[in-house]
Amino acid sequence: MPDHKDARRPLEPGPDELRLLIDACADFVVEQIKTLPSQPSWDLDGAEGVAAGFAEPPPDDGRAIASILERLRPAVAKSLNAAGPGYLAYIPGGGIPSAALADFVALAVNRFVGIAGPAPALARIEAQAIDWLATLMGYPPGAGGILTSGGSVSNLIAIVTARVARLPEDFLSGVLYCSEEAHRSVAKAARIAGFPERCLRSIPVDSRLRLRPDLLEAALREDGARGLRPFLVVANAGTTNTGAIDPLPEIADVAARHGLWVHADAAYGGFFRLVPDGAARLAGIERCDSITLDPHKGMFLPYGTGCLLVRDPETLRRAHGGQAAYLQDLGHGDGGPSFTELSPELSRDFRGLRIWLPIQLHGLRAFREQIQEKLDLARWAYDELKDEPLLEMLDEPQLSIVAFVCRPPKGGDANAMGAELLRRVNARRRVFLSSTTIGGRYVLRLCVLSFRTHMDRMQDAVTALREEARSLAGG
Ligand SMILES: Cc1ncc(COP(=O)(O)O)c(C=O)c1O
Repeated sequence: MPDHKDARRPLEPGPDELRLLIDACADFVVEQIKTLPSQPSWDLDGAEGVAAGFAEPPPDDGRAIASILERLRPAVAKSLNAAGPGYLAYIPGGGIPSAALADFVALAVNRFVGIAGPAPALARIEAQAIDWLATLMGYPPGAGGILTSGGSVSNLIAIVTARVARLPEDFLSGVLYCSEEAHRSVAKAARIAGFPERCLRSIPVDSRLRLRPDLLEAALREDGARGLRPFLVVANAGTTNTGAIDPLPEIADVAARHGLWVHADAAYGGFFRLVPDGAARLAGIERCDSITLDPHKGMFLPYGTGCLLVRDPETLRRAHGGQAAYLQDLGHGDGGPSFTELSPELSRDFRGLRIWLPIQLHGLRAFREQIQEKLDLARWAYDELKDEPLLEMLDEPQLSIVAFVCRPPKGGDANAMGAELLRRVNARRRVFLSSTTIGGRYVLRLCVLSFRTHMDRMQDAVTALREEARSLAGG
């Protein structure tokens, strides 16, 4: 037996050294967050060179934390600033700092929460956070769910759960339905869940980009007549492109007539239910069998926090239950939550604290105020831009996305003008917008969902759009 007693043990710093390490990281984080308002909305100049500088073999000997953080500084800076107030692209969220603190505590205490037995109270904290989310969505007591890494994984778990609930083991006659505007993760999840493309129907949308229940009904009848087994419809509760909300009550009615599982993809839109305006627009979500929610979007948490809610947690257990023999000593925490029986994962991070701690610390009111402000800001931007002759709004914002195309003078190329407008607005580096394509049209989007975005930055966005559009049109 070699004698290790005199060896240095850097993996277990003593209390004073640990504090120094924490302080160094705290200084780094505080500086990052303090300077966010003055940082550019994006900066990728020279980013490849910075990235290339990280290609190296692992060091045999450790380095000082200060030098490691110093190397991280440009790596963070050379990026799209997804945490900053000007980020109006894709689906923002921002990343509230208290959630990072929750992660810090959770990872440092490093308890196992996959099964209730080893840490019953911590598993209860996570289950409580899920219960809160279920209640916020209007689910009755007894509903449940699982925290995931994000909406794509939640959609995958939902599809597998619906498949097990509604189809036989030999499931290839099953058909699932979603709108043309569904997030790409739905088709991807269907494929991973074992459904070839022929099992997926893309239902056309109306002029406001919402799934048409009459065409869903027609597709169901046609597939039924061909001997296929329709089993699931995925409804959008806020599309990624424009925030369109499918007619949830009508879809639930059609689904009830045909015995379908209804899954709401509310990854982006779900948290708007926290305020009365949003709750009215999302009416019917509580009737869905399952709901994808992304706290890393509408609850402003850092990336890596998704949630799948189900009205009946037994359905999750039927799809994922069972336990390895080698875990037989662990017990089940007297009927406490056993997340591994509800999801594909066994060992994982203690995600619950990332939701529970911020809600404890800030209270729900702080979240409600933010969510209402985002609805108001989107509406304000829409009102400002709707009479701009060089722009054509696709729709009034159904949630917090303003989507529009260019209307060039004298029959110019609207798509080319849109792409150039986006480039010029983003080149100012105060805001960062993104685009999409709908029906062959180049669509600019302004998605307001960061807790750091307020009126001043929206004014910058609107001013930049107006000025650059006019300059492009030669005016
Ligand atoms: C409606 C919708 N569903 C699913 C997803 C996928 O979520 P994630 O990126 O967390 O995997 C997104 C992401 O933007 C989304 O907007």
